[in-house]
Amino acid sequence: MNFKHIGKNIKIFDSVKIINPENISLGDECLIADFSFLYAVGKGIEIGNFCHITEHGIIQAGGLVKMGNFSAIGPRTTILAATDDYEGNGFIGLAVLNKYRNTQFKDVIIGNHVHIGMGCIIMPGVTIGNGCSIGAGSLVTKDMPEWTICYGHPCKPIKIKPKEKQLKMEEQFLKEYYG
Ligand SMILES: CC(C)(COP(=O)(O)OP(=O)(O)OC[C@H]1O[C@@H](n2cnc3c(N)ncnc32)[C@H](O)[C@@H]1OP(=O)(O)O)[C@@H](O)C(=O)NCCC(=O)NCCS
Repeated sequence: MNFKHIGKNIKIFDSVKIINPENISLGDECLIADFSFLYAVGKGIEIGNFCHITEHGIIQAGGLVKMGNFSAIGPRTTILAATDDYEGNGFIGLAVLNKYRNTQFKDVIIGNHVHIGMGCIIMPGVTIGNGCSIGAGSLVTKDMPEWTICYGHPCKPIKIKPKEKQLKMEEQFLKEYYG
């Protein structure tokens, strides 16, 4: 596939569906598991190094979807950087003429060491800070602060997560990997 950028040792499983690979950058060692769907319209998708998209992950761009290094999304998690108008100012979906839609595009920025659990929805325009862990089944409608464990429907920061250990591990890992 003709990606915008592709790092070393990428693994994309057989049943992954990718639209517009020329709008996608993938860092070193990324793994994209079966039945995932990357829809790279608009500003596209940028995935950092050592990232894992687990089974049935959905990334819908429009706005930019950016994922930092060492981040992962759990099974059946969806990231949305675009939405149709749900307030009556436009029709919904691709089956109508485009001029009748009122689609909004908003970037989703996911930091380094962000772990998003199973079955989450990340809404357009959200930034998830470095080191954030998002609990299973969360609906993320607002920015989440760095190094916190967050969960719920809607998702809220619940407790602080220590960062020193992971950052030390990162240093050691990078030394070992890149020399
Ligand atoms: C968010 C999470 C990290 C919290 O773990 P924890 O701090 O050990 O939390 P606990 O199990 O002690 O639960 C604490 C409270 O939060 C609630 N809770 C835990 N996870 C929750 C979630 N995802 N959504 C809503 N509430 C949650 C518990 O019911 C409990 O409530 P209570 O105090 O009223 O009894 C964990 O529950 C989680 O969701 N992990 C993600 C797992 C996953 O998706 N893995 C995918 C494959 S990698």
